[in-house]
Amino acid sequence: AANFGKEEAPRNQGGLQMIRPFPIKPISRFNQKFPFFRQPTEVGHFSLDSKRGVHCDARLLKVYCPPADPRRTDFDLRKGYRDYIKRDDDVKERLNNITKWMQENKRLIAAPPTSTSERSEDQGNESTSRHCERINADFVMWRGHMTKFLCTPYEDREGWAMAVTLYRGTYYISEVETEENRARRKGMSDREQEMSYWGYKFEQYVTSDDERSQPDTTKPVDTHEAFCSVIRTRLDSHSLLYSGEVDCRIPNSKKKPPENYMELKTTRIWYKHNNERNFYRFKLLKVWAQSFLVGIPEVIVGFRDDEGIVSYLRSFQTMQMASSSQGMWDAAVCFNFANQLLTYIKEIVTIDNPKVVYMLKRAPGSSEVTCTLHAEGDEQFLSQEYIASFR
Ligand code: A3P
Ligand code: MG
Ligand code: MG
Repeated sequence: AANFGKEEAPRNQGGLQMIRPFPIKPISRFNQKFPFFRQPTEVGHFSLDSKRGVHCDARLLKVYCPPADPRRTDFDLRKGYRDYIKRDDDVKERLNNITKWMQENKRLIAAPPTSTSERSEDQGNESTSRHCERINADFVMWRGHMTKFLCTPYEDREGWAMAVTLYRGTYYISEVETEENRARRKGMSDREQEMSYWGYKFEQYVTSDDERSQPDTTKPVDTHEAFCSVIRTRLDSHSLLYSGEVDCRIPNSKKKPPENYMELKTTRIWYKHNNERNFYRFKLLKVWAQSFLVGIPEVIVGFRDDEGIVSYLRSFQTMQMASSSQGMWDAAVCFNFANQLLTYIKEIVTIDNPKVVYMLKRAPGSSEVTCTLHAEGDEQFLSQEYIASFR
């Protein structure tokens, strides 16, 4: 059998060893031609129910249900806030929902076996098809992690921390909430908390369960429920497997996933010229990165006032966002940064062991990504169940 994961964790390092950092600034370093990025393809999908149970089907994929006149709407995003069933942000699911999907779908993601001795035993034995030696991907993560990487060159206010584990030749990346981000989340005012409900309520106003039904805005919003697409793609020399939450699909579309998917957003109405500028500079960068990574062609944006009333919708084409940003951000800089960061991860993360975590951190405004080694197992995030699903 393969000898992955058998390596001893290094001892006597006090759990914290500094490793060469990765420079971010000046970002002109990443001003090169756009690297190769393969068209994202969907390898599978799953739904998360109201108890966050994983189902390997599309039962919670909604369908876009456009209003009669998208130029004139009166959606009240405050409606039903008292009944909001909010997911507990203190519960950290890490990669568990993705790895559950992976466990159930090994045949779609397994690398061909390398050891001939064990291959013969497996032939015709259905139970072992769920076990493989290796996954056929260099990186496994949430799409949102990759979004954060892409936006890092242009993001100075919010930092991030990503735990990285190498297991059987695949790098698993799982976000860790930083102290600053936790303090910000815990310090949210009642108004801020209510406003973070508005985006979900908007989704309810413009989606339904299928083509035959209409939006139901009387039901409580439940943020446990979600539909996630599992995407395979390649960035230069890095093969990627990531999952991302998808808001809805285009109704009656002949296109196949992810081309028939849509992203929904809300934004404050542009009252001043500066509002429009900031939308293109900050919000659209994130929306572009998020949608582009899944290959979602179109984003519907609901424009709201400060009372939470959406008065019109606008459609944005993902492929036109980079040019409409008018030089405020450069998609090639984002992708070159991410590409080189992934190369850096492959260089510094060398111990193949699920107990060992390399912690990458980008502090707000910092000009580098730092890395510390945690070898005692106290940062482990890959589940025993998932680890045991390999032979
Ligand atoms: P808006 O982005 O329209 O405000 P997504 O658009 O990624 O599908 O997310 C749906 C909604 O979740 C968001 O809608 C917002 O209401 C909420 N949300 C997402 N990320 C958030 C964050 N980091 N903090 C607070 N709310 C967030
Ligand atoms: Mg969403
Ligand atoms: Mg959305």
